[in-house]
Amino acid sequence: MDPAKVLGQQIKLPYSGKIVPNRFLKSAMTERLCTWDPDHRAECGKPTEGYINAYKRWGEGLTGVIVLGNIPVHRDYLEAAGNAIIDKNNPWDAVEAFKPAVAAAKAHGSLCIGQLTHAGRQAPDTVCEQPVSASDTKCPDGVMGLNFQPARAMTEEEIWDAIDRWAFGAEVLYKAGADGAQLHSAHGYLLSQFLSPLVNKRTDQWGGSFENRSRIVFEIIKAIRNRVPDESFIISIKINSHDFIDGGFSQEECATMVEKLEEARVDLIELSGGTYESLAFEHKKESTRRREGFFVEFADRIRPHVKKSVLCVTGGFRNAEPMAEAVKQDTCQIVGLARPLCAEPDLPKKILEGKSKGAAENAVESSLQTPAAVIQIHAMAENRPIPDTAKKEVAEEVTEMIIGKKPMPHAEGAKYPPI
Ligand SMILES: Cc1cc2nc3c(=O)[nH]c(=O)nc-3n(C[C@H](O)[C@H](O)[C@H](O)COP(=O)(O)O)c2cc1C
Repeated sequence: MDPAKVLGQQIKLPYSGKIVPNRFLKSAMTERLCTWDPDHRAECGKPTEGYINAYKRWGEGLTGVIVLGNIPVHRDYLEAAGNAIIDKNNPWDAVEAFKPAVAAAKAHGSLCIGQLTHAGRQAPDTVCEQPVSASDTKCPDGVMGLNFQPARAMTEEEIWDAIDRWAFGAEVLYKAGADGAQLHSAHGYLLSQFLSPLVNKRTDQWGGSFENRSRIVFEIIKAIRNRVPDESFIISIKINSHDFIDGGFSQEECATMVEKLEEARVDLIELSGGTYESLAFEHKKESTRRREGFFVEFADRIRPHVKKSVLCVTGGFRNAEPMAEAVKQDTCQIVGLARPLCAEPDLPKKILEGKSKGAAENAVESSLQTPAAVIQIHAMAENRPIPDTAKKEVAEEVTEMIIGKKPMPHAEGAKYPPI
């Protein structure tokens, strides 16, 4: 079957009953387009016009599910300056603030879900003086040029407060018109820290056995259901297929986890991998190169454990043919895309209309493609032409911006921080 036909098929989510119009998912990407004023933390994290513009572009791209980039549920534990924030103690109306971006993402039929997060020990020292985590621990310095203060173990009270914050975040998203919420439980952020036996050394009900380490995730799901009783609200999760670090969350635990997530009526499970300590946004195995997806071999092993929930695999997909193969071979039902949708926010539309066979080349060196994507998101936000990183000279210019040889563009009067 023609890849466009395979990828153009709709799919029903089993628990919410919501229909995803095609097999593409825009994976969460930190936009750094929300208000930022370090002296007034309570006023940080409001979506700006630029944030809405970016989702307008992605909405026009017809991606089946659009996931809003990570939204911390606590204003003290950000992933970066300029994050969107939903904090129950903020004085502004988050429902009204998020409505326009959600509406823009959904304007052409996409489903929109918001990714709720807490950076835990991965909150960099530029935004966090005292990070918290499952245990006393420290994220190694120097990852992506970031440094971290040592994190202290969260108290029992703080853990219950975090659970309540996720539920509050989901309720805000629901009231703002979003179709669902995604728990960010991948990439070494707080929930991933709880899951990892390497980071989580607790001896209470939140640490030790797999059941205890995963307890926080299931308490959050329970709390969301209590706060948002509407069954049609999607609960999704992004989890690691593997932490890619000895002693971390393993694929065996991932297989157990997906079975438990299904029991908890989680609609959409997005598989990824790696943490700041062991980044995995490139091929770890030669054997997966042909199939493009970084995590497809893990997904093949995890797939038999998922009977009802819909499985998405994100990372590495660039061409329609391997994307469609992953769906046809039932490795996953949905393919997640991130960096390609920064260069071409309408890539799914072009593939579905038979106008493209896949993403344009990216001539930026692979380790710099994430900051390059942020530069492209900011161009979308500011209605500037998106730097075409397929062109060598543009890729070189973008690289010079990243390494500080050239100034980064920043709209005059922007309320979000410079990149
Ligand atoms: C600019 C940028 C920001 C990202 N921010 C997030 C995020 O907020 N939450 C998340 O789960 N993953 C985040 N990621 C990871 C992507 O969602 C995705 O898992 C990864 O880039 C691999 O997919 P790709 O090969 O299609 O880019 C980010 C990636 C990029 C490039």
